Amino acid sequence: MEIILIYAEGTNGAFGYKQGLPWKVPEDLKHFSQTTTSHAVLMGRQTWDGLPSNVKPLPGRLNLVLTSHSGSLRNCQPVKSIYEAIEHARDLGHHKLFIIGGPAVLRQAQHVATRIIRTTIPYSGPFDVRAPELDFHDWKLVDGRKVSALTSVGSFDIEEYAPRFYKRKDDRSLLRRIKAWFKGQL
Ligand SMILES: NC(=O)c1ccc[n+]([C@@H]2O[C@H](COP(=O)([O-])OP(=O)(O)OC[C@H]3O[C@@H](n4cnc5c(N)ncnc54)[C@H](OP(=O)(O)O)[C@@H]3O)[C@@H](O)[C@H]2O)c1
Repeated sequence: MEIILIYAEGTNGAFGYKQGLPWKVPEDLKHFSQTTTSHAVLMGRQTWDGLPSNVKPLPGRLNLVLTSHSGSLRNCQPVKSIYEAIEHARDLGHHKLFIIGGPAVLRQAQHVATRIIRTTIPYSGPFDVRAPELDFHDWKLVDGRKVSALTSVGSFDIEEYAPRFYKRKDDRSLLRRIKAWFKGQL
């Protein structure tokens, strides 16, 4: 099974603002939607809470939400751990699980991820959630390019953004990596 981190960060470290994304880059949202549709997605409960009502749950995807208070959530599948999310997605026949944020969820999931799609947005505006600083030592860049976008966010013009695709250098099986990761947690 592929476990893929997918997220966007501002050049100033921005990640979230007022429960949503700090920017609106339709091209990037389209890329996110095309990449994740028909697969499973895992997000933290606050990301779930902040999804706009027209895309809540994210359509055409199995919406898994990481929370320690599962009772109050509707229209999604609550899970208590990343491991439970992986099991749930696999039991339902999914071959790809996308981890979409927030920062703590991405940080936890990097240990079991097989790929990372990290997009840099040239944004220098306000934010209240900072992007995670992941350790890219174990990852190799397999594709990086700049994509044109014509978008304004307040007084910021975004003319291009940069999605980068990483693969893990270490090709141990997912199961062996999960076991090694859990050993370190004990
Ligand atoms: N730039 C991007 O690509 C991107 C992507 C996604 C989200 N965002 C933005 O990021 C912000 C949200 O991030 P956030 O850091 O505030 O929150 P978050 O990560 O979305 O959610 C945090 C919540 O997740 C649950 N959680 C996390 N780890 C857990 C674990 N190990 N076990 C059980 N539950 C766990 C907890 O929920 P409970 O309190 O219910 O237990 C915790 O309060 C929003 O502004 C959103 O728009 C940006």
